[in-house]
Parts: sequence; structure tokens; C-alpha cells
Amino acid sequence: MKKIYGIGTGPGDKELLTLKAVRMINEASVIFAPNNKGKNIALDTVADHIANKKVIMIDFPMGRVAAEDYVKAAEIIHEETPENGVGVFLTIGDPMVYSTFIYTMEQLEKFNVTVEVIPGIPSFVAAAASAKLPLTIKGDNFLLCDDFQEDLLDSVESICILKTFKDKERIIDSLEKKNFDYQYVKHCTWDDEEILTDKETILRDKNYISLILGRKR
Ligand SMILES: C[S@@+](CC[C@H](N)C(=O)[O-])C[C@H]1O[C@@H](n2cnc3c(N)ncnc32)[C@H](O)[C@@H]1O
Repeated sequence: MKKIYGIGTGPGDKELLTLKAVRMINEASVIFAPNNKGKNIALDTVADHIANKKVIMIDFPMGRVAAEDYVKAAEIIHEETPENGVGVFLTIGDPMVYSTFIYTMEQLEKFNVTVEVIPGIPSFVAAAASAKLPLTIKGDNFLLCDDFQEDLLDSVESICILKTFKDKERIIDSLEKKNFDYQYVKHCTWDDEEILTDKETILRDKNYISLILGRKR
């Protein structure tokens, strides 16, 4: 039977790959990764372990992925993974956190294949470490979201908002109004990681690989 692993490659620092992720990549017959104009951050993170393995980039049109794209992705993965072989699908961070693998996995399960998930360090956990900002202390409620609404701040002590690139001004205005300190973490764990707290500087930045951490004062 074919085996497909969804593998989390962590936030980007090659040393934050798990031993299990590295082992599964070594055992893989074929490696799949979402195609981002011929590039993929997860693929860059595991570059030292790929050797001359077959790599297949799968298209997920950014911002407009349709249900058929996941069906097509599952078909490609199924077809390209050899019988009794291992296919690995790479995702940045963790595969169960806002990832294309979640929907691809649902489609893969319709085939006669074994699907397993290997966790990775998610971006918000890595960012909390970089910023030295506790995500949770005793008694706290923490919220992870990618669709921010101001009233979410009424029921939590700390928050992490992903995919903030389009909506930063509204998010920061709400955090300030509700007395939250915030830090903007860009390219977390990469060589050019930046942690910003000045509102105007944050608003000038347009990078997709960024998030906002907030904590109630
Ligand atoms: C589609 S989600 C993927 C989340 C990922 N599966 C995880 O576990 O973190 C993409 C968003 O994750 C966040 N992200 C991923 N890696 C990051 C990094 N190294 N630094 C900052 N934000 C990151 C950004 O908010 C980005 O817009």
C-alpha cells in the first residue's frame, strides 16, 4: 500500500526540523510541495536532505484555491507515489495549522492509501520564542486566528493573528484600543528575521510571512 506523510517543516530554521521529518524525507520515494512560482519555503528548509529525490511542485493558486485543486493535488500525489512507496507532502510550520495539506488529506483518504501527519513547530510558537513573549500563563485564554475581529479580544489574554499582511492597520488599531501590547514578527527564525513594535514601521511592511502576537497589558 502507498504511504503519504504530511510533514511540517517548521518556521524555516533548518535546525528546527524534527528528526522524524528528516527520517521520513530520507525514506521518501517522492517529495511534494505547493508551488509558489517555482519556489517553496518548506522545500528550502529541507534542501539538505533531498539529495537527488524526485520533487513534484503542486499548484494551489494563491488566494483562490478551489475544491477541484485539492482533488487534483490528491490525484497527482496518488499517481506519482509508487506502490508500496512513500510520498511526503511538505508544509511550512505544522500541517494541521492553516495548511493546504488539511484539504488535500481529505481527498487522499478517498484512495486506498495510508495517510499520516508528522507535526512541525508552528510559526506562532516559534514567534513567541523569538519575541520572548509568553503565549499562555496560568489562567490565560489564547486565540490563534487568521480572520481577525475586534470582539475576539474581549475573551482572551493573548492572541496570534496569521496572514496579517492585508489587514494590519485595523488589527493594530483594535489591539491598541483594547490595551494589548503587540509585536510583529516577520520571517521568524530566518536569517533576516525582524521583530517590530513601531506601528508605522509595521504598516509599511508588506510581507506575507509575518504575524502579529498580542498580549493584554
Ligand atoms: C498558510 S499559513 C501556514 C501556517 C503554518 N502551517 C504554521 O503552522 O505556522 C501562512 C501564514 O503562516 C505565518 N507564518 C508561517 N511561517 C512564518 C514565519 N517563519 N514567520 C512569520 N510568520 C509565519 C504567516 O502569518 C503566514 O501568512
